[in-house]
Amino acid sequence: MTTNNDRILRTGFAERLCHWAVVLCFFLAAVSGISWFFPTVSWMSGLLGTPQMARLLHPFLGIAVFAGLCYMFARFVGYNMPARTDAIWFRRIREVLMNKHDGEPLQIGKYNAGQKVLFWLIMASILVLMISGLIMWRAYFAEYFPIPVLRLAILTHAVAGIGLILLIVGHIYLALWVRGSITGMVTGYVSRAWARQHHDRWHGELEAKDAQAASARGRGA
Ligand code: HEM
Repeated sequence: MTTNNDRILRTGFAERLCHWAVVLCFFLAAVSGISWFFPTVSWMSGLLGTPQMARLLHPFLGIAVFAGLCYMFARFVGYNMPARTDAIWFRRIREVLMNKHDGEPLQIGKYNAGQKVLFWLIMASILVLMISGLIMWRAYFAEYFPIPVLRLAILTHAVAGIGLILLIVGHIYLALWVRGSITGMVTGYVSRAWARQHHDRWHGELEAKDAQAASARGRGA
């Protein structure tokens, strides 16, 4: 059963564990990356012990982020496919931003259209970071590529890295802005009222599923 009286399971334990592990690895990889990109904050590479340690660990942290996001991709992609009703969210974005939920239902599934866009941008960025990162990884692969390819990989890696950091800043802002969503990612559960307010179609689908299960149980008794 996905719902009980007033709480609904939004994110399972394995997915939450993976999300927070990705957050930790991403934070450490991003801090070390930024420390090389902007000389004024080069001291930040000390967060991983020494600058040498940061240099060593950064690619492995990146691989951990990639692996975690591959798992999340597999678990969440089905909920992030474009739907016809996403157009309603885009059309009525002002109402959404003003937190007005009293008009016609917005028909939002498990994730809203904005979350879906962010999902695909995050996944695209990590793929670009992974490919360019492997090419420029001096310890193992860089020697197999000509200098122009390495230069392009380094540039692409920097642009995709900054891009992903900005996307994550937006993601955190939105997570803080929609009250209750971080609780959902920590405990796994959201309130029924939260689900109805922010993801009305998803809430309706869960209720229909539970009603079906209850009537099947009734028939079996
Ligand atoms: C402090 C940092 C972060 C916070 C507070 C945070 C918060 C959240 C929350 C609350 C959700 C669930 C949203 C919902 O249930 O509607 C979520 C989902 C997600 N987060 Fe994060 N997050 C953080 C960092 C990250 C990072 C660093 C990544 C990836 C590099 C990431 C990737 C994702 C993905 C892929 C989802 C699933 C969204 C979807 O399927 O559309 N998050 N996050």
